[in-house]
Amino acid sequence: MRVLGIETSCDETGIAIYDSNQGLLAHKLYSQIQLHAQFGGVVPELASRDHIQKIIPLIKETLTTAKTTLQDINAIAYTAGPGLVGALLVGSVLGASLGLALNIPTIGVHHMESHLLASMLEENRPNFPFIALLVSGGHTMLVLAQKFGSYEILGESVDDAAGEAFDKVAKMLNLAYPGGPALAKLAERGTPQRFNFPRPMVNRAGLDFSFSGLKTFALNTLHENEDNDQTRSDIAWAFQDAVTDTLIIKCKRALKETNLNQLVIAGGVSANKTLRSKLSILEQQNIKIFYPRLEFCTDNGAMVAYTGCQRLLSQQQHSTLSYEVKVSPRWAITEIDKR
Ligand code: KG4
Ligand code: ZN
Repeated sequence: MRVLGIETSCDETGIAIYDSNQGLLAHKLYSQIQLHAQFGGVVPELASRDHIQKIIPLIKETLTTAKTTLQDINAIAYTAGPGLVGALLVGSVLGASLGLALNIPTIGVHHMESHLLASMLEENRPNFPFIALLVSGGHTMLVLAQKFGSYEILGESVDDAAGEAFDKVAKMLNLAYPGGPALAKLAERGTPQRFNFPRPMVNRAGLDFSFSGLKTFALNTLHENEDNDQTRSDIAWAFQDAVTDTLIIKCKRALKETNLNQLVIAGGVSANKTLRSKLSILEQQNIKIFYPRLEFCTDNGAMVAYTGCQRLLSQQQHSTLSYEVKVSPRWAITEIDKR
């Protein structure tokens, strides 16, 4: 089965073609970072308009690179949620229209499930059951992935998502959007241990996270110290150290409580080098860590094409030949089949 995947949930237009026999044939990404940077964050209306402009040329380019044509596509998978409603509608309407024109099945995919499955595109893949830490701009959660399509949320952020906290602290430090990678870069010049930020909620039982207090801690630290480049780098270092430590403490706890030893990391923040190097220490404790390649940590079409293909093959989610367009800006990963 050859599936065209379409991702437009936020500020990246991602297109890919995945073939169940041959694997990933091609993937292309257009990032809207430049467009939104001047506003310091994603402007939803501009995101939708830009997806409209880029999506068709990107599909054509992807087909060319994959040396295939629309006539050889057997199904279309598009992100149906969660995400920005206007942006989701662009991919969904185009996906459904193409499906109608080609008379092939279409399938609406859950964005976080596709992040969770992104590491299945790599040679080193996890086997169910495993624990997944999903850390993106909109979500932070620890998920017990029992089997394909069966997910239990063990813990999640009670306030800001990890990526959101990175972005907000970055803004505070006058860094350009998207703040996560910029803050990580600034932290490289930071003096280790000059500031010591708290590790929120680690002394409490359970697997939930809270990152908004760290934001306030960063702001107070900035006000209480001489505001110069070194102070800002040191704050970036301490903030990143606290977030990554907190994530790792909860991952270890989740693995221990479930008696599992495979940990999948996905979503934009999984690109963070400090997080990855701290996780590598867990590998010495007989824990196997799985990541998608860096370009598939952030939003992309490949994970959507893969997820749609698996869902269609496993018949877990019935494909539709009715081509009704339904997007779900808020949609829990535990409710994939109940939409
Ligand atoms: O998964 P993603 O591309 O989009 C969402 O679904 O949200 O994640 C984007 C988030 C942003 O908050 C961005 O700042 C963060 O991931 N991010 C990072 C890094 N790269 C991306 N955060 C920390 N360190 C990074 N290297
Ligand atoms: Zn995402």
